[in-house]
Amino acid sequence: MGKDEIAGINTGTRPISERLRGDRITGDRYYAPEFAKLEWDHMWTRVWHVAGRLSDIPETGDYVVHNFRRESVVVFRQADGSIRAFYNSCKHRGNRLAWSTLGGGELVCSYHGWRWGIDGTLEQVQDPDDFEGGDPCGKLKLSEVAVDTWGGFIWYNMDPNPRPLLDFLDPIPWLFRNRDMENMVRVVWRTFDVDANWKFSSDNFNESYHLPTVHPELATTTDEDYKNTIFEMYPNGHNRMIEQGQPSMRAPHPNEVEQPWDMMLAQWGLDPKDFAGRSRDGRLALQEQRRKLGPQKGYHHYASWSDDELTDYFHHTLFPNVTMTGTADGVHFFRTEPHPTDPEKCTFDYWCLVPKIDGAEEVATIVGMRPLREADYEFIPYGSGQPIPDMMESFLIQDLGVAVGQQNGFHSRGYTDAFLSGQESRVRRFHEVLNDYIEGRR
Ligand code: FES
Ligand SMILES: [Fe+2]
Repeated sequence: MGKDEIAGINTGTRPISERLRGDRITGDRYYAPEFAKLEWDHMWTRVWHVAGRLSDIPETGDYVVHNFRRESVVVFRQADGSIRAFYNSCKHRGNRLAWSTLGGGELVCSYHGWRWGIDGTLEQVQDPDDFEGGDPCGKLKLSEVAVDTWGGFIWYNMDPNPRPLLDFLDPIPWLFRNRDMENMVRVVWRTFDVDANWKFSSDNFNESYHLPTVHPELATTTDEDYKNTIFEMYPNGHNRMIEQGQPSMRAPHPNEVEQPWDMMLAQWGLDPKDFAGRSRDGRLALQEQRRKLGPQKGYHHYASWSDDELTDYFHHTLFPNVTMTGTADGVHFFRTEPHPTDPEKCTFDYWCLVPKIDGAEEVATIVGMRPLREADYEFIPYGSGQPIPDMMESFLIQDLGVAVGQQNGFHSRGYTDAFLSGQESRVRRFHEVLNDYIEGRR
């Protein structure tokens, strides 16, 4: 899809709400096992999933495992550099083969010891002469799964005849074309468990209406006013929201330079005092400074970024469960996935992806300063709100806390549908696309 077409879809004079059907967002969607089954049968088994980063499996034979509900997929790097994905289930009698997220080499089943090669072919069995038709080695293969790559991510699809990945993602790859996603470094790779349905995050990241109440501290750097925010919806169910990186007029002292806007200006050689009484002029000044000083500070990637990408917040919700937020520092990847059996629980992934910066040894992330190198995987128990020490001040914890409370409210007889503002139209749009899958329109 080209730029003009995107503009045509998203910037018409008709309000977004007129393009919605008005499907109800009922509470049972968040807790009923029957609804979770519909999601599995008609949606999860047909959309593309992220298994990992290509950098997870650099060498021949390296593999990454992605578990999704009770399903599991293992993706291997092949000798020719390509990748192949297989269901992580032994063809003998079904035992799971790979148990760790990352590993390497052939898979030896822990039950009867069958050995599977990195191309999914059976290589060794006990008593090969005891099989009708002779030794199954070299003939039997693991069931293969469709796999493809974009943005340095490994994607797979459980549908035997899936829609091509780039077609499914359109126009997301085009919107990220400036950012060289393939070469970004994942400096945070973290999962939490959350006592809420997975859709809380799709809903939450599809609106900025909650910012003044849930994240009031962001007002000194993020203009969340819907009149200044660009909202876009695309045919495939993906959405985008762009907030300008500048103090909000709803901040307590909107024209004054407050913390941490002062530090953001100072970091790029601007004197915060120069912006007293006109704090929002700092946005364009910051764009100019980053453009000018970027190369000498090792930020070579800024050369291909647009001016707005040097200051603003580009939130993309990829249907159904991924959010990628582009900022001047990199890309935040957020994802929820349903619990294997309980629709009232999910996992929440946070990956912080940053460009390489000459000479930089660490970078700022949502969880504090982190070394500028590929991170190890961390699982952090959160559940219904256990404290996470390095995230106490983080907006993510604020969002997760609300999700747990909202999950309770969905059970009330008093809740029958969301009553949405215009700027939350993308929340209803998300549920309508989900219904399109479930009801056979996609
Ligand atoms: S189930 Fe894998 S070898 Fe028997
Ligand atoms: Fe939030």
